[in-house]
Amino acid sequence: MKYDSTSLKLPIENIEAEDYLPLNGTDYIEFYVGNAKQSAHYFKTAFGFQDFAYAGLETGLKDRTSYVLKQDKIILVLTSSLLAKSEINDHLVKHGDGVKNMAIWVDDATESWKKTTDRGAKSAFEPYTIKDNNGYVTLSGIKTYGDTVHIFIERDKYSGVFLPGFIENSSTYQPEETGLKFIDHMVGNVGWNEMNTWVNYYKSVMGFAQLVSFDDKDISTEYTALMSKVMTNGNGRIKFPINEPAEGRKKSQIEEYIDFYNGAGVQHLALATDNIIHTVQELQNRGVEFLQVPKSYYNTVMDRVGEIDEDIAPLKDLGILIDRDDEGYLLQIFTKPLMDRPTVFFEIIQRKGAKSFGKGNFKALFEAIEREQENRGTL
Ligand code: FE2
Repeated sequence: MKYDSTSLKLPIENIEAEDYLPLNGTDYIEFYVGNAKQSAHYFKTAFGFQDFAYAGLETGLKDRTSYVLKQDKIILVLTSSLLAKSEINDHLVKHGDGVKNMAIWVDDATESWKKTTDRGAKSAFEPYTIKDNNGYVTLSGIKTYGDTVHIFIERDKYSGVFLPGFIENSSTYQPEETGLKFIDHMVGNVGWNEMNTWVNYYKSVMGFAQLVSFDDKDISTEYTALMSKVMTNGNGRIKFPINEPAEGRKKSQIEEYIDFYNGAGVQHLALATDNIIHTVQELQNRGVEFLQVPKSYYNTVMDRVGEIDEDIAPLKDLGILIDRDDEGYLLQIFTKPLMDRPTVFFEIIQRKGAKSFGKGNFKALFEAIEREQENRGTL
């Protein structure tokens, strides 16, 4: 078992990003869920997302309802089917509530689709333009791992709320924001021996570079293991770590995800805050459940990470983890799964210079996850 973050040098394998495909950032994340209305209530109440836009029967849709929530730069779309048979329900039966679309903001959705499909991406849908009185938006889509889709979205000629077809949504019930600012990274779990396939997809199709790599010797406990590589686009605004299970004595947490999700999919969204103590305190007050490491973690953590700006006491109270790399440190904590199935969760992260992903915390975290797996009988 190797566990030594002080030896971590970044970037380990810094292959230059080609950046032939300019990506401005994450636009929105769309979950297919069983009950969008209730999911919206949960994400508002528990995480402080705000009502933003809506589409459904009242706006002329016959087949689906979408609630769009926003907090600073993070936009979540929660979509349910209104029909008995639909692509949304097929997704739901197979995967449970989960991430369907990761939308990326681009200057030219048609070119983005052409260039990526030319390089071998499978089309999810061809470019099309939707309009209303506020202008137009062009969208296109390519498939990535599992049933997940990257939507390219070109919206510089649009001044309305969210997208054509959506109306502004507001409600008298509006819990306060919790300080979540933007999506730091989005992690995919893929099946056995598939990590390099998808790493190569992001390299060759999207022009991404590999930022850092772990292997199963780095991230393992006595029982369970995974491998992970982080892919990033040229301007660094989009980071997609890709995990695959690795052999351990018992079932890898990635394998558990793959079993319950019935294939590859989005494992977690890391949401950035600039005051993690405030954010996590708020989330805990609102009933969000986090993975807890043993308090003994804090006996040695300062030896490992050195001096930090924050007091250790509130970090320890809240169970916030600390890690350091050559460029600084980071604070992070992971929620328990947000869904009934042990699949998607959120990470809350505050970076203080560090550009890595908390490798030094993995062992403590894995042991916490294994305790949860033990409780679920899936270890
Ligand atoms: Fe993460």
